[in-house]
Amino acid sequence: MNGVRRPIGVFDSGIGGLTVVKALIEDLPSESIIYFGDTARVPYGTKSKSTIVRFSLENVEFLLRFDVKCIVIACNTSSSWALPTLRKYFKVPIIGVIRPGALAAVRQTRTKRVGVIGTNATIKSLAYEMAIRRIDPRVKVFSQSCPLFVPLVEEGWLNGGISRQIANHYLTTLKRQRIDTLILGCTHYPLLAPVIQEVLGSSTTLVDSAQQTAAEVRGVLMGADTLCDGSAKPRYRFFVTDEPSHFNQPSCQPLPGSGDGCGRTRQFFQ
Ligand code: DGL
Repeated sequence: MNGVRRPIGVFDSGIGGLTVVKALIEDLPSESIIYFGDTARVPYGTKSKSTIVRFSLENVEFLLRFDVKCIVIACNTSSSWALPTLRKYFKVPIIGVIRPGALAAVRQTRTKRVGVIGTNATIKSLAYEMAIRRIDPRVKVFSQSCPLFVPLVEEGWLNGGISRQIANHYLTTLKRQRIDTLILGCTHYPLLAPVIQEVLGSSTTLVDSAQQTAAEVRGVLMGADTLCDGSAKPRYRFFVTDEPSHFNQPSCQPLPGSGDGCGRTRQFFQ
């Protein structure tokens, strides 16, 4: 296939990576996308490094069947632990979400006190601390894992009493650290942004990796001379490793996959 028309491959453990797909579609509306959500094995955030790396290798192998021109790891957990291995094994450009998220936060903070929330695995990896230190060593980072947020999002419990109670539980300590910026260090979390914002108050700015990741993808495609020129209609295809009906729930609705003519979500068994 013509290098320019080849799709961008995107993967996550579940529906969270759709928040990155949304930013990709907004920023690169001519690009076709193949999305792969490993819903049969979500969550990744409670698993060991070796399991996360193995799943990530398999996800890339699946996407390569579609002759993708680059791959976006729309998963902080996988980006934290598997990015160096994936880059070692595959020639296709691979973009993670940690550095873009770190960059967005460093640009945003005024007080240089930044919070990070993520899965157990992401927080344990210290990936954000290291990425932020490389950009601006003066920024102080306070981190907190929020393991129940991913199942809440996968179940579509985006607001209401239980979500608020859980958010309160996780965020109270961070709130005391007087952070002015919070990185939503899991691609599922932007779907809980209203509840998180309510708990932290309006003085804390929430940032996620999605827009900066899309900007980075644009840069990579421009560098490789494979940026789509807009002459072709984009095609979006979505694959999951378990029951697709769950994937088409209302929290996924802003995405074109649920609309006609954009491809339906198909189940694929690894
Ligand atoms: N959405 C993912 C992330 O950004 C994975 C969450 C999980 O599977 O635990 O970390």
